[in-house]
Amino acid sequence: MKGKKILIGISGSIAAYKIPLLVRLCIKAGAEVKIVMTPSSATFVSPLVLSTLSKNEVHIDIASDTAWANHVELGRWADVMLIAPASCNTLAKMANAYCDNLLLSVYLSSICKIYIAPAMDEDMWHHQATQDNLTKLASFGHTIIPSEHGELASGLIGMGRMAEPETIFENLQAFFKRRNTLTGKTALITAGPTYENLDPVRFIGNYSTGKMGIAIAEALAERGCKVHLVLGPTHLVTHHPLIETTNVRSAEEMYQACMNLFSGADIAVMSAAVADYTPEIVAENKIKKQDDNFELKLKKTKDILKSLGAIKSEKQVLVGFALESKDEKQYALKKLSEKNADAIVMNSLNDKGAGFSHDTNKITIFEKSGLEFNYELKSKQAVANDIVERIMNLLP
Ligand code: CTP
Repeated sequence: MKGKKILIGISGSIAAYKIPLLVRLCIKAGAEVKIVMTPSSATFVSPLVLSTLSKNEVHIDIASDTAWANHVELGRWADVMLIAPASCNTLAKMANAYCDNLLLSVYLSSICKIYIAPAMDEDMWHHQATQDNLTKLASFGHTIIPSEHGELASGLIGMGRMAEPETIFENLQAFFKRRNTLTGKTALITAGPTYENLDPVRFIGNYSTGKMGIAIAEALAERGCKVHLVLGPTHLVTHHPLIETTNVRSAEEMYQACMNLFSGADIAVMSAAVADYTPEIVAENKIKKQDDNFELKLKKTKDILKSLGAIKSEKQVLVGFALESKDEKQYALKKLSEKNADAIVMNSLNDKGAGFSHDTNKITIFEKSGLEFNYELKSKQAVANDIVERIMNLLP
């Protein structure tokens, strides 16, 4: 952390009393720390203590009688900005570009990585509006350091406690450790389902949400990698500045997009749940109800992973997925060799919490070299980090 520039934004929550400890950890690790506070947070923690520990003036007001705090300069100074504690109010304002205090104007003018450590009471944490705000902030490429379960200031026991200073510090340390490790590299990621049209109002699809693929795209972008995300129809989005999204609908559109982008990619991860078959004929008009039985004729789609495996160079790392329900290892190894991938990430429908829709996944990675890596059930973000760590090992 030596010489790293950390900007801490403190908003109004009782958890603010823990921030001096975090500042001490950062300073002891050799980082430079600057602090910006909302006016209400100064009732929870002393600006004097914070300026003494950080060895820097603490900024609270946009302007005093004689000076104007340059929010742009502060935002551009930082390598990372951490908003901790992030109160419910500050989260809502950040998600909607409100700018009625210095902390918010610094946040909106910052161009660095943002970490957010929320703190609030349990019911506020669970409120759909708060969860929607967190989802929106995460889609900007910000990392949410999850709140913890425990005793709250209200006396209730539940979710909403700010992560401990040590946990926040570990997150910052991990950020600096992996930052720029993939700068100069480009990746192609497929994610989400495909929809195969039957007529103007119906399609064949699947339950994939694209969560895993988006998490991989973000984990790569976190390391400085430029990412082309070819995304099937899903409500999920990512606005990470290093991720360029191409939205597609059908397996054919996904195939075309990948064939266009693959030659420029060092890394390709095919995590999309691509339809294996598509209707032979797409009806021009809505198909009308007729007989008791209806037969649908389907034809095979192009296998994108296999097509890329056939043209990939020695320098490119190609990773596929295998979602299986039986004989998992056997099928995964078959896909590894038949599709000429460098690795297959296998998840089994028999593992609770793995596969589509969940926020978690449990994977095994099979590599061309014969190596096999088994992982525990983890959040999809943590799984994405494991996959990216293996990819980095496979890069020439
Ligand atoms: N895949 C692809 N194009 C397709 C079908 C699959 O790129 N038309 C990719 C997936 O993105 C995944 C891998 O191939 O990375 C395995 O997909 P999966 O559906 O599990 O395997 P299939 O080859 O379709 O075999 P099966 O459905 O019989 O298991």
